Amino acid sequence: MEQHNDNFRSRVGVLLALAGSAIGLGNLWRFPYLLGTNGGAAFIIIYLFFVFIICLPIMFSEFTIGRRSGANAFRAFRKLSPGSKWNFMGIFVVLTPILVVSFYSVVGGWTIDYMVKAATGAFSGTSQQLGSLFSDTISSPLGPIIYMLVFLVLSCLVLLAGVEKGIERFSKVMMPALFVMIVIIAIRSVTLKGAGAGLSFLFNPDFSKVTSQTFMDALGQAFFSLSLGCGTVITYASYVAKKESIVGISAQTAIADTTFALLAGVAIMPAVFSFGISPSQGPGLVFVTLPYIFSHLPLGNLLGVIFFFVLFIAAITSAISLIEVAVAYVKEEFKVNRVVAVIISFVVVAVIGALCSLSQGNVLHIELLGKNLFDLLDSASANVLMPLGGLFSVIFVGWILKKPNVSDELTSSGAVRLKKAAIDIIFFLIKYIAPVAIIVIMLGAWL
Ligand code: PFF
Repeated sequence: MEQHNDNFRSRVGVLLALAGSAIGLGNLWRFPYLLGTNGGAAFIIIYLFFVFIICLPIMFSEFTIGRRSGANAFRAFRKLSPGSKWNFMGIFVVLTPILVVSFYSVVGGWTIDYMVKAATGAFSGTSQQLGSLFSDTISSPLGPIIYMLVFLVLSCLVLLAGVEKGIERFSKVMMPALFVMIVIIAIRSVTLKGAGAGLSFLFNPDFSKVTSQTFMDALGQAFFSLSLGCGTVITYASYVAKKESIVGISAQTAIADTTFALLAGVAIMPAVFSFGISPSQGPGLVFVTLPYIFSHLPLGNLLGVIFFFVLFIAAITSAISLIEVAVAYVKEEFKVNRVVAVIISFVVVAVIGALCSLSQGNVLHIELLGKNLFDLLDSASANVLMPLGGLFSVIFVGWILKKPNVSDELTSSGAVRLKKAAIDIIFFLIKYIAPVAIIVIMLGAWL
């Protein structure tokens, strides 16, 4: 049922594009601060359990929807279940990534800003001063919007080149480089004096900090990190050849993403502990604490440039995957060419992104539920929108698509060998375990 003429060419390309989507600010910015506030290793254990028991079946489901339909995320549901009540899902999975990438691009802009700051030696002073530098940076009206636009323009340039020549080629170069750089930073971090305390925080669980919110945070983070529940996997899967193994590629993506998150923890926590800083300060961890640490290390400016470059590359490969959902939708539904689709998507994201950025300062007071627009989109996407998107996807695949179709897709119509027992277990996880777990965890956090 493949309908596109521009698809991923190689299996490695698919894997690196999916890993590029998964590995992002979620691993380097969100994961460390959530770890810090939720008891370190205890959070990691819960997180790993969720990744492999709940999120992997969801990824299989989204992959199935995307590849079987061969359509953009909006059309996929209608194509697989014509005339059904599931059309709303199509809208949901196109809107969510647009909201996510709007605040995501603002942070993407900060990474460029901080790369420039590191290169020009702006990291100096006490941690309070670096805290003020961060809050002044993000709350100023113009600077962050300009950096966000630079970030978006760069993302769109890759998208203009298409799926194979843009997304696939970019990911194939950038993702291996990213792994090498994070390993270098991790080695530097664990060789600092007093790094052991950080490692023991990462690997010795403290369950006393675990609450029902911890479960929600871990689930939300697993969704966010694996790019689930918002049309990205569906869209990328529609560009994947029929013969490739959904189970294999999904599992490898989850392993790559988890490995990278742990490497990010090893790159950050030992350094934080070695400087006697508390790990539980929330979102400022990467933008305040690390610059402080860099300012005290020999060759710190260089390390700072490398770190924020890593953050930037991780962010851009993810932003690309989010914007591509909108691009594929506009291109196919409005029958325009890729250039026009990219421009329209860019404008929409840039406008919402600018509002997000302004909501951090004093210019625009968009407050909802006691949060500014930026914070609202950050927490609502991971804790509400993505889990709901994932929930609907597994229900759709488990209850509407029916087992023989799912099994046909998981085995690539017989090209991939999978034991019957494995298919039974996967289908059981999709149909019962994942939906019930998501509902229980969401209710647990809300009630
Ligand atoms: N997975 C990305 C990260 O961890 O930063 C964020 C993301 C990308 C979320 C793509 C959702 C998505 F569809």
